[in-house]
Amino acid sequence: MEPNTSPDFSVDTKTDGRGFSHEEIVVAYHERTKHHYHRYAASLGYLDWAKQPDPFRRYDGAPLVSLPLPAEGRELPFWQLYVRDSVMLTPLSVESVSLFLRYALSLTAWKQFQGATWPLRANPSSGNLHPTEGYVLLPSLEKFHNLPGVYHYAPKEHCLELRAEIDPTSWASFPEGSFLVGLSSIFWREAWKYGERAFRYCQLDVGHALGSLRFAAAALGWKVRLLDRVAGAALARLLGLDRDADYVRAEREHPELLALVVREEGSSDRTVSLSEDVITRVANSQWQGNANVLSPGHGVEWPVIDQVAVATMNSRIVTNEEFSSFPSEAELFAAPVRSGPFSAEKVILGRRSAVSMDASTAISEATFFRMMARLVPTRDGRSMPWDVLHWRPRIHLGLFVHRVNKVAPGLYLLARDPEKVTSLRQSMRPEFLWQRPASCPQGLPLFLLKEGDCRALAANVSCGQDIAGDGAFSLSMIAEYLDCLVVYGAGFYRNLYWEAGLVGQVLYLEAEEAGIRATGIGCYFDDPVHEVFGIASRDWQSFYHFTVGNPLEDVRLTTLPAYGLGEAG
Ligand SMILES: Cc1cc2nc3c(=O)[nH]c(=O)nc-3n(C[C@H](O)[C@H](O)[C@H](O)COP(=O)(O)O)c2cc1C
Repeated sequence: MEPNTSPDFSVDTKTDGRGFSHEEIVVAYHERTKHHYHRYAASLGYLDWAKQPDPFRRYDGAPLVSLPLPAEGRELPFWQLYVRDSVMLTPLSVESVSLFLRYALSLTAWKQFQGATWPLRANPSSGNLHPTEGYVLLPSLEKFHNLPGVYHYAPKEHCLELRAEIDPTSWASFPEGSFLVGLSSIFWREAWKYGERAFRYCQLDVGHALGSLRFAAAALGWKVRLLDRVAGAALARLLGLDRDADYVRAEREHPELLALVVREEGSSDRTVSLSEDVITRVANSQWQGNANVLSPGHGVEWPVIDQVAVATMNSRIVTNEEFSSFPSEAELFAAPVRSGPFSAEKVILGRRSAVSMDASTAISEATFFRMMARLVPTRDGRSMPWDVLHWRPRIHLGLFVHRVNKVAPGLYLLARDPEKVTSLRQSMRPEFLWQRPASCPQGLPLFLLKEGDCRALAANVSCGQDIAGDGAFSLSMIAEYLDCLVVYGAGFYRNLYWEAGLVGQVLYLEAEEAGIRATGIGCYFDDPVHEVFGIASRDWQSFYHFTVGNPLEDVRLTTLPAYGLGEAG
């Protein structure tokens, strides 16, 4: 992962040259990056502050196009984002693109403590290191630019950097009335702190960012569709990430995903594929700008990250999966939610991680059940934000319930695909109860496994982080791991993390709406978590932890506005 190594974006052979299949490489990576009680996954073991990566990528020399900072105080209620077709459709304009990026990927505050200042963003990130970079491919927009273009988003300035102009005839083959969003990762940003496990965190961050994009689009009446027909190599060319000359000493970006942002829903949105010819014409455009160097040297390499990145570059196409066995909205929510305390803007821009929880406040059962219901797609398969993914849920929740009124403390299971209850049950401890909690909405696949105080256990398996025991509940996201790798190929390893990140993003926003807070937990002891639930095979694996509860604010910190202070940081 030396910055100037040109990554191999073009790999589509089934093995890595040493005879290992891509699936074997993924399994080996996943195993070696597990945290154990007696041994954490390999990392430097200390923070080399001199090499701390710059959290802001810039393309020096690329023309900077300012986005008008949207006026604050939009009153659209948060709950309305979930009600299909209820938000007025916003026309595509400079202003609406600006609002979209503001809600999705912008800075939301600067924090200050003892002379140190650091920014927070709408999308969370492990260690606040922000490996995810955002791109938009826009048509020509009045007052903005008279040609379609590939733009890199610069969150610190809330500006777009014009990397390449696209000739209008090429743009004509892009889906009409829509635009594209691309995400890439700079693995080094996470690897600097977390070593080999960093690839997992980068993928979780991509999932959070995808969620952030989906909620931002919902606030404008738009929809987002993940395009899995554009392969990694094609995406690298489309975003200019394969251009060695633009990254000479700078850290490379790795293509993650491409999504279509649409105003009107079309049945063929998901199957959009860009022809080789269009991609070549974009790639052959005049590109501008040179990537900045994020760290003065790295000093350490983590080759397994590059290996797993190559092995997971492409997955097999997931054909549309059907959702007829899923509950309807009426079955999932005792009463469909049509009111709430906060605006979408307050929830989205106010989202923060709790740093610690108060270890006392209980939440109501209604709040708990509503949060769980938000995580299950509805029968029509189109409930926001799950409509962004085209596969049935492969992430289920093993819950540690601590403080929910009228819900007994203990271990619970939320099967996010109701048809997976039987196989989950067969894979877990035989003594588990599998009882439906009283008053749980009829369509919510939630089960009590075992009653008891699991506060210490939850904290213990989350790397001893008190935050997992001091909230209302915490959880482990259990992935249908091996089956997905077999059916969809090694590339689906990333998809599983994206889905987990998206689950996390919903929990973050739902916690804000409920007046409490959440925190993603990437540090947990993998196999001890499996042991808690009695998972003995590798079919199911824990991919992410989360905690939700009443936060303790750190009053020593000062909060400054995201923009308008000049050079805050
Ligand atoms: C993938 C991921 C893993 C995280 N892991 C932890 C963790 O193990 N412990 C923790 O206290 N916070 C964790 N966080 C929270 C981040 O530290 C937090 O998102 C970051 O500092 C930015 O702050 P914000 O969420 O308030 O914007 C994690 C966040 C993400 C997205």
